Amino acid sequence: MNLTRRPRRLRRTAQIRNLVHEVDVRCDDLIYPVFVTEGENVQSPIESMPGIYHYSLDRLAIHLKEVWEKGVRAVIFFGVPDHKDACGSGAYDPDGIVQRALRMTKKLYSEMICIADICLCEYTDHGHCGVIKDGEVLNDETLELLSKAAVSCAAAGADIVAPSDMMDGRIGHMRHTLDAAGYAHTLIMAYSVKYASAFYGPFREAADSAPAFGDRKSYQMDFRNRREALLETELDMEEGADIIMVKPALAYLDIVRTVSEAFDLPLCTYSVSGEYAMMKAAAMNGWIDEKRVVMESMIAMKRAGAKMIITYYAPQIAEWLREEE
Ligand code: PBG
Ligand code: ZN
Repeated sequence: MNLTRRPRRLRRTAQIRNLVHEVDVRCDDLIYPVFVTEGENVQSPIESMPGIYHYSLDRLAIHLKEVWEKGVRAVIFFGVPDHKDACGSGAYDPDGIVQRALRMTKKLYSEMICIADICLCEYTDHGHCGVIKDGEVLNDETLELLSKAAVSCAAAGADIVAPSDMMDGRIGHMRHTLDAAGYAHTLIMAYSVKYASAFYGPFREAADSAPAFGDRKSYQMDFRNRREALLETELDMEEGADIIMVKPALAYLDIVRTVSEAFDLPLCTYSVSGEYAMMKAAAMNGWIDEKRVVMESMIAMKRAGAKMIITYYAPQIAEWLREEE
């Protein structure tokens, strides 16, 4: 055959494939979610997420050493508090569990990028992401509390605050509140495109944050919609978001692509608890090659346009990347 174009030439050897390949996953791209809890000497496993634990601060210090040494350079904290109430006061307690985790982490590893997830659901007794009146999640009343949480986390050393609640106007409110409190340098990573997803199941077990009644569909997005992702992102950008996010990741790569092409801000995607659980379960059964499936998934997220990825696999991926060096 007299073929002029033979795409297989570019695939002939590993060296050539490495020379021409387009997309990489690097350690710097990874953000590791960590659950912090009260008490001492606590490291309790989360059943549906093998390898993921709740850590009390003393045990967190030990774990942080491990992940730092593996090369992880960014963590996002989620609080699992002892005390919950109607208005989620644990979220903005200056001595709350996440605030203390931030202070400790910054003291031990000042170069670790510390991100504070900002939401009320882990701290409210009803499990919703905002304050409730007559069975409705109130928007504007919730903004005050979220901004208070953001300021308290910034004061505790958070480099980045990441509101995950999906109330309207939260980015603008938070930006103004942070600026007025002297935290103009604190970044906002907005969960701009966050769908109401069943893939959050294991997280809600982990954070004990499932809503006590109803669901989150009146604030998180309807997964049947794509164009709404552009509107949500545009508003967050106008309101002052520094980094934008699409969540979940794997089943939403079309949205990652749409958002990454439409906006120039750095884009994060969150590979959520259900994605981790699915890959882990299949791997533990010996049904898939864990490393190859995980790395292929991460590459797919980057190929779709994500600059960074929040993943429970971060320390493991960091280790795998080191092995290849
Ligand atoms: C809280 C929050 C959730 C997740 C991150 N922040 C749960 C939810 O919205 O119900 C999900 C993370 C995961 O599933 O890994 N608002
Ligand atoms: Zn929430």
